[in-house]
Amino acid sequence: MWNYKDFIGIKNLTNEEIKHILDLSFEMKQQMINDKAGEIKQTRGNMTTLFFENSTRTKHSFYMAGQNIGLRVTDLAIGTSSVQKGESLMDTLQTIDSMGTDIIVMRHSESGSQEFAARNCKASIISAGDGTNEHPTQALLDAMTILDKKGSFEGLKVTIAGDILHSRVAKSNLYLLNKMGAKVTFTGPTTLVPKAIAQMGAKVCYDLKESVKDADVVMGLRIQMERQNSGAFPDLREYNKTYGIDGAIFDYAKKDAILMHPAPVNWGVELDRSLFTAPYSVISEQVTNGVAVRMAILYMIMEYRNNRK
Ligand code: CP
Repeated sequence: MWNYKDFIGIKNLTNEEIKHILDLSFEMKQQMINDKAGEIKQTRGNMTTLFFENSTRTKHSFYMAGQNIGLRVTDLAIGTSSVQKGESLMDTLQTIDSMGTDIIVMRHSESGSQEFAARNCKASIISAGDGTNEHPTQALLDAMTILDKKGSFEGLKVTIAGDILHSRVAKSNLYLLNKMGAKVTFTGPTTLVPKAIAQMGAKVCYDLKESVKDADVVMGLRIQMERQNSGAFPDLREYNKTYGIDGAIFDYAKKDAILMHPAPVNWGVELDRSLFTAPYSVISEQVTNGVAVRMAILYMIMEYRNNRK
């Protein structure tokens, strides 16, 4: 079913490939629940995590996922590596590749860096976040969570609020949800949701209440504090007043709507603190599903590699 060395984006996946990954992810999740019986699918190989940007969820869940399926997992800590002496990305990649790792799980701030790595490494490259381009495993764990709660993607209205322009999560989610038959609406300030983004296949609406009307899924995105000085919006309080998601907004959504956020959350900015314990929040389930999705991707890639030996 999987015929590629690397896993670096949703954009070029077929619907069948997405369905296959989601099916395997649900299977992995069930196997984790049953693990007392030692049922988790096992494979063999080495995996290295290479994170040029900070991460808690993605890095740690890849680490756990690799160990769960029997991989030997190591991390190159960028902060104490020769990157700090000025070693280039190419030299860093080739050094790890020469050590014979099967998989490099990589996050980098430069869009396109994983495609570059995939072209230059014998190891399989798995994206853990590619600049402002894609965050494919986040979209898959979001999809798994939506499918678990809603049963199907067909005809669902998914409203995504926040910094769409710079968000790799928004782009990967848009590619995936469009392919699977859901309708995506983007909302946020005009500076962070340019009208032209509609050409990617989303509806754009600048009124939060209007955009949430009859939504099945409401997803907040992190306001990237590092972009606060770019003048994209006046200040965080102003952003929260206009685009902050609170309990009252859910009066406009469908009665069984769910709240999602890739996290980390700036509580009090993009989400009201009261939503931390909201019964319709599935944020912690997203994190749980992240381990299963990453187990599925790692297993699939290792099967591809082992079958070609
Ligand atoms: N959602 C996400 O990518 O979180 P981390 O930055 O903690 O990995």
